[in-house]
Amino acid sequence: MDVIALDAPTDAQIRAWHEVLAAVHAADPAGEPAPDPDGAARRLLSAEPGARQRHWAVADGGRMVAVASLRLAGEPGTARPGEVDVQVHPRHRRRGHGRRLLAAAAEGLRADGRTSVIAQVLAGTPAVPFLESQGFECVLTLRGMLLRLDEVPPGRIERLLAEAPAGYELVRWRGTVPDGHAAALARAKHAMADFAEYEGAPWDARRVREMAEVVAKRGDDLYTVAALHGGAIAGFTEIVVPHDSAGRAAQYDTAVVPEHRGRRIGIWVKAAMLAWLTAERPDVREIETDNSGDNAHMIAVNEELGFRTERESLEYQAPVTALP
Ligand SMILES: CC(C)(COP(=O)(O)OP(=O)(O)OC[C@H]1O[C@@H](n2cnc3c(N)ncnc32)[C@H](O)[C@@H]1OP(=O)(O)O)[C@@H](O)C(=O)NCCC(=O)NCCS
Repeated sequence: MDVIALDAPTDAQIRAWHEVLAAVHAADPAGEPAPDPDGAARRLLSAEPGARQRHWAVADGGRMVAVASLRLAGEPGTARPGEVDVQVHPRHRRRGHGRRLLAAAAEGLRADGRTSVIAQVLAGTPAVPFLESQGFECVLTLRGMLLRLDEVPPGRIERLLAEAPAGYELVRWRGTVPDGHAAALARAKHAMADFAEYEGAPWDARRVREMAEVVAKRGDDLYTVAALHGGAIAGFTEIVVPHDSAGRAAQYDTAVVPEHRGRRIGIWVKAAMLAWLTAERPDVREIETDNSGDNAHMIAVNEELGFRTERESLEYQAPVTALP
């Protein structure tokens, strides 16, 4: 039983990888759409710009039964933690495969000069005792929420749109930010820094464009609605509709610049986004979002829009010295 590094996976290995993910999903769907083979291949073959990734698998009797990915954002040796994900076929658990893959990822982390690692898992699943037995501690709770558009009470969006804060106007775009707003969007993204503890790299116009290019390269659609004040972005919200969404879109960032907070700009841009999506993308039936468990304000905004809590996820962290 060996751990194999998949630095250049073959087509057969990519198919086997997808089969492991599909078996894990079938045993515990947790409200998520099943992984599709093309998406698994894309994720294995290309990392996002500004990040590198490594993959490992365990084969038992010639069959792939467990897989792991390590995402390394930023340059080697940066203080940013690596991100690890381990998935073991349900029929092959408690045989040490998870631990073996974590040890391989630990080697990868050391080779890249990293000192810590994080993992995001669902509360109440075997991942919790697994990570805790391997030296990880919970550092953040995330609340997964879902909005079913056909359950939004009639008139709610119109009412929220009518309550526009004085002195602000809405602007919206699909795909990459127009040049005139790029620097202002980057500044507004800094407003997210309160919550994005691990995304330490500074936002600038280039990184904002790169993020939109990553989404486009995957074949997905990015929609942005922003509130302008005196021509500058005071707040914004982003939604991505995956090309294989099966009706489910994902909330990306929402932020309001500190000096503009407390004027209901967050809920206003989100309501405008819902109105736009309803008109432009009738194929979108639901929207999912993850909020920091500490971010009571954003959770309240989402609840007012009609989002309901679906699941709780936990972010775990470990110093690399604690790993097997
Ligand atoms: C979490 C997961 C990866 C564990 O894989 P695994 O191969 O079963 O784990 P291991 O056999 O290496 O277990 C190592 C130790 O973790 C702990 N552990 C693992 N699963 C456990 C469970 N269900 N209950 C209690 N402890 C558990 C035990 O201490 C175990 O040692 P032991 O078997 O000697 O008691 C697997 O359950 C899985 O794929 N879950 C779904 C995907 C997921 O949530 N991945 C996120 C992890 S980053």
